Amino acid sequence: MAEEKVLNTPKADSTVYDDAALAAEYKAKREKQQQEDFQKPFDPDVILEVRHLRKCFPLKKTVTGKVTKELVAVDDVSFKLKAGETLGIVGESGCGKTTTGRAILKLHQPTAGQIIFDGKDITHYNSAQMRQIRKEMQIIFQDPYSSLPPRSTVGGILSEPVEVHKIVPKEQVKEYVLELMEKCGLRDYYYERYPHEFSGGQRQRICIARALSVKPKLVICDEPVSALDVSIQAQIINLLKKLQRDMNLAYVFISHDLSVVKFISDKIGVMYLGAMMEFGTKEAIFTNPLHPYTKALFSAVPNPDPTAKTQRIKLQGDIPSPANPPKGCRFHTRCPYAKEICKHVTPEYKEYGEGHFAACHLLDGE
Ligand SMILES: Nc1ncnc2c1ncn2[C@@H]1O[C@H](COP(=O)(O)OP(=O)(O)OP(=O)(O)O)[C@@H](O)[C@H]1O
Ligand code: SF4
Ligand SMILES: [Mg+2]
Repeated sequence: MAEEKVLNTPKADSTVYDDAALAAEYKAKREKQQQEDFQKPFDPDVILEVRHLRKCFPLKKTVTGKVTKELVAVDDVSFKLKAGETLGIVGESGCGKTTTGRAILKLHQPTAGQIIFDGKDITHYNSAQMRQIRKEMQIIFQDPYSSLPPRSTVGGILSEPVEVHKIVPKEQVKEYVLELMEKCGLRDYYYERYPHEFSGGQRQRICIARALSVKPKLVICDEPVSALDVSIQAQIINLLKKLQRDMNLAYVFISHDLSVVKFISDKIGVMYLGAMMEFGTKEAIFTNPLHPYTKALFSAVPNPDPTAKTQRIKLQGDIPSPANPPKGCRFHTRCPYAKEICKHVTPEYKEYGEGHFAACHLLDGE
């Protein structure tokens, strides 16, 4: 049985904080760090590197179009991903997972930051340049019902991208598509059928086949199994794993299901209100979580061992609005360990073990 632990509310200290000065100091430090990082050479070992990604959406504009209020959906997110690896991105609803995925693919133009894909800085690629590399970066959505064109057959849906991107000579397209269908667990006679004839799991297999038909190097999987029955989820996850091994694919796997993320990921990024709170290997995140938010989030993952005693950390309060995030540490309004400093000073996102990053004052002994 999981025990629930509710920890104390924040305690005050006697330090007087000048919030405006602290915010300015933090901003200057962050900008300096960003400029240094933007000049760094690209790591040849990684397929995707995201540096200080920021994405804002306008909330209010004047009649002249000047933005007077904006929502920072993704704030200063950085990570690296190697070919053949899976990065799981987790966090509560609205924390910026989808926006991060879409900004990587440039379906949203980043407000700031750098996206380096396969050794190329694509941040400022225009749509013609993006078209050239679009086939190397694909996306699978949560809803397999709405993401397939209803009036095309499976054969038509899968042949189109293969023809557009000239993956194989025209006369070999059908053979190529049938082979791909077999790899994705789709029978050959489905070729002539329409999406509405299939269940959710089969439709998601079609979506996976369509994404992989152009031989991508990176696939963003945005909650790809959340809309499916639990019994089907494992089949789809296993299929994604098998295809990853066969094609050396890198996945960014977005999910709020931590058990699924635990199963599929090599690395995990934990997001809260647009920012990366912690990032590390799956082992580091599960066996040695550093950030109080990660600890609370992962304390809710069911343990398959019924005799194991787990302590569930219950977070108090609602998630604040991303349009108006708390000052200092953005998690302080819900953090069981928050101190006065947390309300005023934004903790730095730093490396505490090899490839293990987090942002929390506790880790600096504050
Ligand atoms: N096009 C948009 N215009 C304005 N705000 C947006 C837009 N897209 C997303 N947002 C806001 O950005 C924040 C992050 O949204 P996002 O969809 O990335 O979150 P998420 O982590 O994927 O959530 P969920 O788990 O619910 O899918 C949310 O507050 C959302 O309302
Ligand atoms: S800095 Fe750390 S201790 Fe302070 S509120 Fe944030 S997560 Fe909690
Ligand atoms: Mg989402």
